[in-house]
Amino acid sequence: KNRGELRIHESVDELRTDLADYVAELSEASVKERGVFAIALSGGSLVGLMGKLCEAPYNKTVDWSKWYIFWADERVVAKNHADSNYKLAKDGLLSKVPIIPSHVHSINDSVSAEEAADDYEFVIRQLVKTRLISVSETSDCPKFDLILLGLGPDGHIASLFPNHSVLNEREEWVTFITDSPKPPPERITFTLPVINSASNVAVVVTGDSKAESVHLAIDDIGSDCPIVPARMVQPASGKLVWFLDKLAASKLEDS
Ligand code: 6PG
Repeated sequence: KNRGELRIHESVDELRTDLADYVAELSEASVKERGVFAIALSGGSLVGLMGKLCEAPYNKTVDWSKWYIFWADERVVAKNHADSNYKLAKDGLLSKVPIIPSHVHSINDSVSAEEAADDYEFVIRQLVKTRLISVSETSDCPKFDLILLGLGPDGHIASLFPNHSVLNEREEWVTFITDSPKPPPERITFTLPVINSASNVAVVVTGDSKAESVHLAIDDIGSDCPIVPARMVQPASGKLVWFLDKLAASKLEDS
């Protein structure tokens, strides 16, 4: 099993700086190589932890006009609803830097969860055709330059929750659930094949409520241990990085 790179930080503030550096470097490399940066965000504490990107020097050095923004998962609520991951990112990040509005690919918030997932996959398929999003050499999946994930205390990533049937989805790129154990219940989410086809995947985790899940996702565990969704994040040819604070890393076996 490829554990990925573990970046364990003394403090959340140190993690925030490292995360901003990481995203800025990947953006620069991707813009140099492909002319664009296709990045997928999640909800939760992640967006706040990316906050330094809105500050000097990043707000000036990052080539924001080349960013294309997607969501690895989204709650099926109106875009201006307090639960919307789009709203969270807009208020916390996107409105503070010169992103081009037409590059922001939020979900269709006026249809059912099923239609929203279909629509979102359709949009991504169009952008893969034009190579705005790269395509994976091994699967026909989109190859995002970066997918950013948070981790739930139960080990979920994106809206892929433990023991849910969508963990087995192999055909679709974007799917939907109506029974999320974390509210709100209706969500759309990237599937594991899409997450594992990305060039870079980062899982950003802070706090001791996540320590057990971090252990179950990363360490060598016994066959009697539950397989948390985060453990299934295994990029085929891309690079996996874990951003952890001391508390989130506190149950790792040998770190
Ligand atoms: C969501 C998220 C979800 C989140 C984790 C961690 O829409 O709920 O995308 O996957 O990243 O639940 O959230 P916290 O970092 O806030 O615990």
